[in-house]
Amino acid sequence: MPVITEIADLKRIYKRRVPKMFYDYAESGSWTETTFRENTTDFDLLKLRQRIAVDMTGRSTASRMVGQEVSMPVALAPVGLTGMQHADGEIKAARAAEKFGVPFTLSTMSICSIEDVAENTEKPFWFQVYTLKDDDFMKRLFARAKDAKCSALVITVDLQVMGQRHKDIKNGLSAPPKLTPASVANMMTKVPWGLEMLQTKRRFFGNIVGHAKGVSDGSSLSSWVAEAFDQALDWERIKQFRDWWDGPVILKGILDPEDAKKALSVGADAIVVSNHGGRQLDGALSSIRMLPQIMDAVGDKIEVHLDSGIRSGQDILKALALGAQGTMVGRAFVYGLGAMGEKGVTEALTVMQTELDRSMALCGRRRIEDLDPSILLMPDDFATRWKTAV
Ligand code: GLV
Repeated sequence: MPVITEIADLKRIYKRRVPKMFYDYAESGSWTETTFRENTTDFDLLKLRQRIAVDMTGRSTASRMVGQEVSMPVALAPVGLTGMQHADGEIKAARAAEKFGVPFTLSTMSICSIEDVAENTEKPFWFQVYTLKDDDFMKRLFARAKDAKCSALVITVDLQVMGQRHKDIKNGLSAPPKLTPASVANMMTKVPWGLEMLQTKRRFFGNIVGHAKGVSDGSSLSSWVAEAFDQALDWERIKQFRDWWDGPVILKGILDPEDAKKALSVGADAIVVSNHGGRQLDGALSSIRMLPQIMDAVGDKIEVHLDSGIRSGQDILKALALGAQGTMVGRAFVYGLGAMGEKGVTEALTVMQTELDRSMALCGRRRIEDLDPSILLMPDDFATRWKTAV
């Protein structure tokens, strides 16, 4: 058993273990990947203020997200094709999350279905939907999520069209993977992954195949997006989805203060400040850099979460210090899952919780609710350097 001390350890093992097609899927941003890179490098521009001789006893990372108790304010983000990173990946990640006391969000584009995850877990999880044209399919998805006792609905609002990720096209990304000379040659070097995958029946998009009408290629994410996603989406339609769900609704993919105000006006319970992990609009600013403006616009009226770029507990601490009530992590848990299944997700969460706890202590704070911007040192123009051109 390798010694894991940081998320990068899990990433190294993950890269060795999982076929290139799925590693590349997780590890890509759109087009030039500038936003993808800046999501992490912008966290490095924020510095933490060291304080000493402050009582550090009795610390806790416990908090709440959309009214639910969490052992730390981190939810596992919805990640498509998680069941290709490891056999039964969504079930494994959901189990790790529930034992750890943090929410797991199941993607619509998962391999294990809503019912699969519900049958194999004890506690409610969150369910993510895209904004699709097909009302029947959407209503059935909502009903399935309700039957599965999902405790929050996450609506992804930043994917009407898909940002192009070059590697997915070059690799011919599909689930299950199409057998080409290149993919077969690569998979022959990933024997443990393949043997585990052969032992599960869950190798297709479990929420879609057999449920959505008119999906011509059930293995390709990009063709489904092109056919099924609603390019005419507007706020009225988002409000309609909001009203179909009688529990907490989280709108994920808000990156502008004006959109944050609209999210408030349609009755969302929380927003996730996100640029989809740098996978959609390449050239957008990082989530952490947009957070202060969004907090100014709506921070006292709606719960704000942040994702995109979080790879450590220090990153979580910085987002919380700037006012986020919670965070979501995608890649950081996928590295753990791909590296060593459920145990790897637990390792990833443990690493980040230890980093969050100790860094919070070294900043002189003991509780999540005590965090505020005064624990940060930041460049004068961190939040204001880029202004609208008109
Ligand atoms: C899907 O949401 C993706 O980013 O691939």
